[in-house]
Amino acid sequence: MTSASGTSGEVLPAELVEVLQSINLGVLLLDSDYRVAFWNDFMVIHSGKDSAEVRGRLLFDIFPELPRLWVEKKVDGVFALQNLAFTSWQQRPHLFNFSGSRPITGLSEMMYQNCTFSPMVEASGSVKYVCLTIADATETAAQHLELERLNELLQDEKNEQARLIRKLEDAQAQLLQSEKMAAIGQLAAGVAHEINNPVGYVYSNFSSLERYVEDLFRLIETYQTVAAEHQDPALRTRLEQANQTLDYDFLRSDMADLVRESRQGLERVKQIVQDLRDFSHIDSGDWQMTDLHKGLDSTLNVIWNEIKFKAEVVKNYGDLPEVQCLGSQLNQVFMNLIINAAHAIEQQGTIWLETGTQDDWVFVRVRDSGAGIDPEHLTRLFDPFFTTKPVGQGTGLGLSVSYSIVGKHHGRLEVESEPGQGATFTVWLPRMQPASEEHT
Ligand SMILES: Nc1ncnc2c1ncn2[C@@H]1O[C@H](COP(=O)(O)OP(=O)(O)OP(=O)(O)O)[C@@H](O)[C@H]1O
Ligand SMILES: [Mg+2]
Repeated sequence: MTSASGTSGEVLPAELVEVLQSINLGVLLLDSDYRVAFWNDFMVIHSGKDSAEVRGRLLFDIFPELPRLWVEKKVDGVFALQNLAFTSWQQRPHLFNFSGSRPITGLSEMMYQNCTFSPMVEASGSVKYVCLTIADATETAAQHLELERLNELLQDEKNEQARLIRKLEDAQAQLLQSEKMAAIGQLAAGVAHEINNPVGYVYSNFSSLERYVEDLFRLIETYQTVAAEHQDPALRTRLEQANQTLDYDFLRSDMADLVRESRQGLERVKQIVQDLRDFSHIDSGDWQMTDLHKGLDSTLNVIWNEIKFKAEVVKNYGDLPEVQCLGSQLNQVFMNLIINAAHAIEQQGTIWLETGTQDDWVFVRVRDSGAGIDPEHLTRLFDPFFTTKPVGQGTGLGLSVSYSIVGKHHGRLEVESEPGQGATFTVWLPRMQPASEEHT
């Protein structure tokens, strides 16, 4: 490499030049005017410019792409402070626009570089040159970038998996809740069915009993009339004594009350059994044309105990056609909405039940005079497990299960509320399901 040492002979000793020509690093010396005093073969190869051609020339003329101000500041700093300065490929990927020496991937069209600016101090103690060493970091960078890309892919996949797991958990929770509701429905239906038979014959026996009692009283009255016609004082005294001891007059009037009240009681039991059967739709596990008012009323009766001390229920039913639906599931929806409404009422309030139609849609609206809903909660109401109730009082599944039941019916569940103004939930249902749904 005599020529190289020849061109730089004034700057560096020939042996050092020899070494610098053989290393795989760009080496270039700059004086304090940013003029090139030396550069090695690495620079010749990558810039396409010979040493002789660049010596003494301003660095920025040779490489117009350089960020001039930044390089000047770096070089000035090294001259002034006599400290090393460094820039890595992560900070400035391509300081010099050299083409990539290892085109491994599409990422390495340009050479990624780590550059060091080091002071070359003279015997006098002052800096004569700043030595720029340019290391080709393309391979590391390419691998690093590829790793980063893979990491991002992994992260995306991880996020997607987390999302799916959450969805699965939600779905499982909903399933559990609806299974629980179905089990309760079945239990209720079973109990109702068992009670139905005995209540049936007690009711019918009771009618006979009522008649028999009437007949018995009539018989006693006949005896009394006959006894009164009889002139035997001993017999009359015995009869009067018996009347008094047994308090016949009270017995006669109380018997009538007892019979009437018991009949009313039996009628209520019959109604409750019927409501339980309607509520759980014992006879219809699938899509049927259903009277929603019947569903609403039986649901209301089943949960009456939860509501009666809290709220007056005002019904404002419109003219509803029968709706094709899964009756027992819709009853679950009504139950959730009405119980939520009752829970939202602190002391005493009103729950309005309104129904009606619009085009081919029917709606069931549950409105309450309760506490209302915070605006920031409105968007989360239907999320599984969202609850504002204390631990143990609400699972936060009522609305999410209702939402999916209404969704299954191709309907919508809407909410309107303002804090302090109560809340309105409206279930919108198409009168008929799309054709494919009928047989599912
Ligand atoms: N009518 C309403 N008025 C005010 N807030 C309501 C009303 N209905 C629902 N909410 C709010 O929405 C939340 C979620 O209701 P959701 O029915 O899903 O769960 P929950 O009633 O808390 O528990 P769960 O129904 O599972 O026993 C409730 O905790 C409550 O804050
Ligand atoms: Mg609820």
